[in-house]
Amino acid sequence: MSQFNLNQNSCNSCGTCVSNCPLGHIEMNNHPQPIPETMCSSCGHCESGCPEGAINLSGPELEPPMLDISSKISPEDIGSYMRNRRSIRNYKKNKVPRNIIEEVMDIVRFAPSGVNQQPVNWVILEDPEKVKNLTGLCIQWMEEMVESDSPLAKALPMESLIKLWKIGMDPILRGAPHIFIATAKDNPGSAITDGVIALSHLDLALPSFGLGSCWAGFLKMASDYPPVREFLGLKEDDLFIGALMVGYPQSKFFRVPKRNKLSVKYL
Ligand SMILES: Cc1cc2nc3c(=O)[nH]c(=O)nc-3n(C[C@H](O)[C@H](O)[C@H](O)COP(=O)(O)O)c2cc1C
Repeated sequence: MSQFNLNQNSCNSCGTCVSNCPLGHIEMNNHPQPIPETMCSSCGHCESGCPEGAINLSGPELEPPMLDISSKISPEDIGSYMRNRRSIRNYKKNKVPRNIIEEVMDIVRFAPSGVNQQPVNWVILEDPEKVKNLTGLCIQWMEEMVESDSPLAKALPMESLIKLWKIGMDPILRGAPHIFIATAKDNPGSAITDGVIALSHLDLALPSFGLGSCWAGFLKMASDYPPVREFLGLKEDDLFIGALMVGYPQSKFFRVPKRNKLSVKYL
């Protein structure tokens, strides 16, 4: 549980923290104060939204206050940055240095999560040999699906993927040097959504580092296969939410792939 510390000398009782609190946990009584017996989710909006800097939210899990000068990005720049993100299916052999991985992940950890629970844990494969072994296990899963006549094997091109693997290609994890997997302990509230959002933040942050990624959909499909779970060291209560292949892109793109027209209903 975090603690709401107020500097009464700086506070001008503007009430911003009261209106910013998503759980109605703060009331105004000359000065703002937490309502006893109500829940604080440690979302930090009382502190970060206080114009006077009068609030300090403290708790065992929370970091010291952070100052971030708000920077502006134009709609044109964000639009072109987001449109130019591509799924990368050909990677250079070189690994991403650990300090770069840490820098990216230090951005990704600020992704939103339901009631700021931050349930996402990461498994990051740093060794390309391990990535290759993981593809091998996904192929093994596909072979079992094909042998058992599973409907999934009929719905997906599993036999072609197995053939490509047998001629030395990696059709599952595309020879990426790294795999980033988002997991959560169980599914309290919005953990799956939180994991997908965190992966999307990662997907979007990577190109600014000269890196690229691709969602590892086939790995996700194989993620309940016991040998895959064992290989990744996942415990019974670990939920595999999703994964991205990550590395330095080998291929360049010159055009944005076409998309369908927007489907939207305004009410
Ligand atoms: C949930 C999800 C799973 C995906 N799985 C795979 C995959 O296993 N292998 C692959 O090559 N691409 C995969 N993709 C990439 C899509 O094919 C790609 O996003 C789509 O073709 C659009 O291309 P773009 O990302 O370059 O805009 C996946 C994408 C998503 C969103």
